[in-house]
Amino acid sequence: MMSHPKARLVVLISGNGSNLQAMIDAIQSGKMKAEIIAVISNKRDAYGLERAGKAGIPVVVLPVMKEQTREEYDAQLAQTVQRYVPDWVVLAGWMRILSMNFLRHFPNRVVNLHPALPGTFPGTHAIERAYEAFQQGEISTTGVMVHLVPDEGVDAGPVLAQTQVKILPGDTLEDLETRIHQTEHRLLVDTLVQLISKENAHV
Ligand code: GRF
Repeated sequence: MMSHPKARLVVLISGNGSNLQAMIDAIQSGKMKAEIIAVISNKRDAYGLERAGKAGIPVVVLPVMKEQTREEYDAQLAQTVQRYVPDWVVLAGWMRILSMNFLRHFPNRVVNLHPALPGTFPGTHAIERAYEAFQQGEISTTGVMVHLVPDEGVDAGPVLAQTQVKILPGDTLEDLETRIHQTEHRLLVDTLVQLISKENAHV
């Protein structure tokens, strides 16, 4: 059986990078046949940069300059990402909305992870907002999804995978966050593994 070249991933982060770490671990265990070519962060102090460094992955810090518009930043970000010739651009804890100035360079190749179910709690603080809705008695289940990012819709692209996460009566916000992040780590890796194997299937 012909061995396929590894899928080339560029991962965008803004903070802790626990989802990046899940991807690094999955590659090191052989579960994910991919290579993280570079990690790019808009935040200089993102702990995920340490995680990439420890794994020997090249990092780029691209902070937004004061007078820079979203379009200008996104064009610069696209140029940086293109240099690595990615098969997939994975937004793992990336906290900026991307304009078409970025997205148009990677059609159907940008994958985002969001800690909520499709059509619920788009944008930031999704877990806290779900927890508040739970405290109001409005929901008892939230979830996680992985979706494509074809346009500027926030956390609203075609869903690749989703899974429900129960909110339990005694849960604190931290309990829910821990359960959601564990679910994210699993869902993101499993979804990328499927994407990569599907891609290899028809190559
Ligand atoms: C996660 O909930 C992610 O989905 C959101 O930011 C949180 C932290 O992600 N965008 P990470 O630990 O930086 O991967």
